[in-house]
Amino acid sequence: MKVKNSHYRTIWPDAEDNTIIKIIDQRLLPHRFIIEELRTVDDFCLAIRDMHVRGAGLIGATAGYAMYCAALAAPQGEADSYFKEAAQRLVATRPTAKNLAWAVERQLSQISPEKDREGRIKKSFQVACEIADEDASFCQQIGEHGLKLIAAISKKKGGKPINILTHCNAGWLAFVDYGSATAPIYAAHHTGIKVHVYVDETRPWLQGARLTAWELKEEGVPHTLIADNTGGHLMQHGMVDMVIVGTDRTTYTGDVANKIGTYLKALAAKDNNIPFYVALPSSTFDWEIEDGLRQIPIEERSGDEVNYVTGLTRDKKIETVLVPPEHTRSVNFGFDVTPARLVTALITERGVVAADRDEILRMFPEKKESKNS
Ligand code: MRU
Repeated sequence: MKVKNSHYRTIWPDAEDNTIIKIIDQRLLPHRFIIEELRTVDDFCLAIRDMHVRGAGLIGATAGYAMYCAALAAPQGEADSYFKEAAQRLVATRPTAKNLAWAVERQLSQISPEKDREGRIKKSFQVACEIADEDASFCQQIGEHGLKLIAAISKKKGGKPINILTHCNAGWLAFVDYGSATAPIYAAHHTGIKVHVYVDETRPWLQGARLTAWELKEEGVPHTLIADNTGGHLMQHGMVDMVIVGTDRTTYTGDVANKIGTYLKALAAKDNNIPFYVALPSSTFDWEIEDGLRQIPIEERSGDEVNYVTGLTRDKKIETVLVPPEHTRSVNFGFDVTPARLVTALITERGVVAADRDEILRMFPEKKESKNS
């Protein structure tokens, strides 16, 4: 997607030395645009854990390249144990995003048949690039399917602007390109459908205020930033036509884990008869668990993210300040689970599907064989 009119992905191998993987460090966006170089498994673990990169799709793509860097570094004769240890460390960095374990497992299964170092390096680089390309292409397809939903509402409204509410950042910064929730919005905007986005600021890390607002600005999509508590009021007053969010893990029964606060938006949408869509590539499905509320692990992060806020001072310096009284105890759950009954439909790369076990398995028949249907 565009940054000052240049095209960027969120992760890419250096053009001259592909043992270096480049990322956009998201911690200082939108005020500083910094490209960081990752070389070792430690670099990758830190980048994922401390959210230099974040968002389920991008976490998965980053883990894919991390396993390639593990192949570059694996000591002769100890490669298997080196990979296993790297995989465990990577998976432990952020427990909720399914794409992380999915990418690591995909790499492990492809690397293990390779007998020598060169073969492992070649294969793991190929797989990492495939994961990244597939992520971008799936998001583009999500955009095409979601566009039809937006176009239908636009027709009903006689071409008046469609107001879409989104939570967190499920944009291109959360993937390799396009984004999931934002892909249909970008597609609609580029086809000339009038869209306007209400961006939840998304406390505590402010992914909406910092990242989604920036992305939409760079793409020229009209938007308005709102405090997290505002969505319900807007919905009650007919100011929201649809909600589209992303997800970090969705069960094959349709329960959706996404950034903390998503559940409250789904409740308000249900109460006000507003369609609530969740956009995801198939790499975000968890095909093993049925009950999202009980079984999806919810990441708990440092309370400092609640207590401190970082931003630009009037004299353009980046500063971090404490908001509550010193030593205030805070709790920081990263995600919540929206039960399938509150979800109007899922937008996937294969099409739009009800958040329902049978419908999801019908859309992904290759997964059905492992289930007792
Ligand atoms: O904690 P983050 O910023 O990684 O959480 C991101 C989200 O919750 C996104 O909405 C989610 O990853 C879905 S889009 C990939």
